[in-house]
Amino acid sequence: MFVVGRLIVWVAIVSTDAQILAALRSAGPNGVSGVELAQRLGISRAAVWARIEELRRLGYEIEASPVHGYRLLNWPDLLHADDLLARLGKTRVVGRDIRVFEQTTSTSDVVEKLARDGVAEGVVVFAEAQTSGRGRLGRKWFSPARKGLWFSVLLRPPLRPQQTTQLTIAAATALVRAIKAQTALQPEIKWPNDILVRGKKVAGILTELSAELDRTKYVVLGVGIDVNVSAREFPAELRQLATSLRVETGHLIDRAELATRLLRELDGDYLRVCAGEFEVIADEWARYCTTLGRYVVIRIGERSVGGRAESLAPDGALLLRTQHGHIERVIGGDVTVEKQ
Ligand code: BTN
Repeated sequence: MFVVGRLIVWVAIVSTDAQILAALRSAGPNGVSGVELAQRLGISRAAVWARIEELRRLGYEIEASPVHGYRLLNWPDLLHADDLLARLGKTRVVGRDIRVFEQTTSTSDVVEKLARDGVAEGVVVFAEAQTSGRGRLGRKWFSPARKGLWFSVLLRPPLRPQQTTQLTIAAATALVRAIKAQTALQPEIKWPNDILVRGKKVAGILTELSAELDRTKYVVLGVGIDVNVSAREFPAELRQLATSLRVETGHLIDRAELATRLLRELDGDYLRVCAGEFEVIADEWARYCTTLGRYVVIRIGERSVGGRAESLAPDGALLLRTQHGHIERVIGGDVTVEKQ
């Protein structure tokens, strides 16, 4: 009874197209009849047909046959909010609302504005391309059209500003899990938030927050993943440093599938962080993090601090043992791993 209730709630808030795509995906090769779709959605068969035609226009290959009814045979490589919602199903927070832009300056700008307008947490904004994508430390983020996943999530966590590093750590862990599950690659984390494959960066996280002294108003969690960028498409200055999932696996990756896996992981980890269970995530993060145990130099603005990366503090800060034997806490910066 409870499950039925949850399904009704989900159906009530997602669009007709999302429900059609969800029904087609769950029917698989058996297909689903127009009559059944019309009944489930509470619309006429003609209205179902009109929506199917619209989805076909977008590139969804939907077969209509007297034997199987409607079957989804193939889908386009585009991010479509209804399709993402259909694939994602019900999440508690992250992905309750998904918006896709063909192009924007930066998805984090869009989410920042939504945050100031009072939109509820969990909204995710994707862009197929960003014209001013930004990375950490004021760097530009290369965001070519339809080649990656460029998105930002609005969160309103019950955390003090100093604790929000936990969200970056949780996001990095969720990213590793999602990439591993979809590609069988073995991504590593370079503290605090770079995801590397075979030593080259494949994804990054930018956490921006609005806070008062002791209260976080909101966090904009920006994620960039180089998914289907080919080696020659990277600008020359990035070629030695960056890679993509396509380059590393040798094949194109279903971006919508990766996006929904990741949103599901992020949702689970966000709830864990909010419930005060960060330690479970920190343990997993430490298993993926190749910075721990290494001698590193971290540049923070004009200052540099060097030492052995020993462990992660409960709030997500990195604990470095300096050459003088002191422990130094570091919460951000640019890490260089020293040769040993
Ligand atoms: C980094 O490693 O420097 C962080 C990169 C974060 C890039 C993402 S792409 C989506 C979101 N919008 C932005 O402008 N930046 C983040």
